[in-house]
Amino acid sequence: MKLPNLSDARKRTDKKTEYIYLDKEYDKSIFKGKKYFIKTYGCQMNVHDSEEISAHLENIGFSKVEEMEDADIVILNTCAIRENAHDKLFGFLGRCKHVKTTSNPNLIIAICGCMAQEESVCSTIKEKYPYVDLVFGTHNICDLEELLINKSEKQNIEVLSCEGNVYENIKYKRDSKFKAWVNIQYGCDKFCTYCIVPYTRGKQRSRKSADILKEVEELVKDGYKEVTLLGQNVNAYGKDLDGELSFAELLQKVADTKIERVRFVTSHPWDFTDEMIDVIVNNDNVMNYIHLPLQSGSDRILKLMGRRYTKDEYIKLFNKIKDKVKGASITTDIIVGFPNESEEDFKETLDVVNICKFDSAFTFIYSPREGTPAAKMDDKISLEEKEKRLYELNELINNYSLMNNKKYVDRVEKVLVEGINEKDSSKLFGYTETMKLVNFEGSQDLIGQIVDVQITEAKSFSLDGKLKR
Ligand code: SAH
Ligand code: SF4
Ligand code: F3S
Repeated sequence: MKLPNLSDARKRTDKKTEYIYLDKEYDKSIFKGKKYFIKTYGCQMNVHDSEEISAHLENIGFSKVEEMEDADIVILNTCAIRENAHDKLFGFLGRCKHVKTTSNPNLIIAICGCMAQEESVCSTIKEKYPYVDLVFGTHNICDLEELLINKSEKQNIEVLSCEGNVYENIKYKRDSKFKAWVNIQYGCDKFCTYCIVPYTRGKQRSRKSADILKEVEELVKDGYKEVTLLGQNVNAYGKDLDGELSFAELLQKVADTKIERVRFVTSHPWDFTDEMIDVIVNNDNVMNYIHLPLQSGSDRILKLMGRRYTKDEYIKLFNKIKDKVKGASITTDIIVGFPNESEEDFKETLDVVNICKFDSAFTFIYSPREGTPAAKMDDKISLEEKEKRLYELNELINNYSLMNNKKYVDRVEKVLVEGINEKDSSKLFGYTETMKLVNFEGSQDLIGQIVDVQITEAKSFSLDGKLKR
């Protein structure tokens, strides 16, 4: 048993990242016939981690099912970013307990992901959730085969609090046959004062560009149409490695593989270079869509958040991207109600929204995370006030989303068709180059292809269109 602890999670030493090339083969008959169900919370990184977890499970014979009730093992891949992520997990655990006590007493319940990295979560599980069988963290996903092969009857918590290594040769079980996530960088050293990620994911460590490019080339060979380069700070890529490519150089090399679409997420404004903008402009297959978190428009709050830019610097960068990257769509993340955010501070945020007129935004009420500096800050603003601000902000954001979407009407857009619309099975859905969701009628054979769609109607969160023949 290994429990996580905050002080080790926070530590940054000058220990070099180890690059570990996995090569162990497992016997697929060990858990032959056994089924797994995986539920994923949180960001794209976690979605991609679930594709890794699936690979480790399938290595030892498990196969995937879509209903928890049919499973022999349930994996809950958790997120810790805000308190409501916690609530969701504990809610779902109740359902798992019900299945375990009523229909399947042998059900293995496993928890992993960012919440597993939290000291307080593991002690709660240890004390109050005896029916959870296994907890592992973000740093030892690749030990999953061993953890299951050697599993005993007792609850096992195996979570490492460390800076982390880089694992290669992972044979991801990707959810899609045409669109793939590719990690380029793990962890984060920015330590924004509200954020738990540097504690749950370890230090910033870049993969070697040769390994990344090899992975992308294989994806191209396998017929993939789109890759999204992933990292908590994608554009800080390479800064932790001597002699490695910069993010802009890596992006150029990924574009050179001729994959049809390249995306990247998430960029930090502080690491956004002119070279990156040039690569986006010069390569048709690098999509003109950028997610650029703002967090707040108030210089005072940005400073308290540790974001390393001012309101003016953000706006300048935004305008530079808009000027150079024709037709770019830019989305953002905004937090309202950071400790003691005043009405004036909030007005500054609204001011940036009015200037930038974002294509869309993820907006959140600040949620104190244990162990982060902001959680210790005094806060006199009521939840009611914060909810009011969130509502006002969302109204404004939605107006601009609709306004931006309306510009698409009558235009013909290239759409990568992803699947069948859940609410209306006569329709397909997919995304434009600028990451706009489009619904339109068409045959299922089009799934996985890039097609021309004429936009007929704009809504706040999506576009309707007609297939162009
Ligand atoms: N690495 C990315 C963000 C990862 S977290 C970046 O730096 O932009 C995704 C978003 O969650 C953040 O952009 C932020 O808006 C929000 N977030 C993070 N911590 C939060 C907290 N404690 N309370 C509310 N929102 C938070
Ligand atoms: Fe969190 Fe800031 Fe790192 Fe993003 S850059 S993951 S918000 S600490
Ligand atoms: Fe959540 Fe961890 Fe991602 S905290 S947002 S799953 S990095």
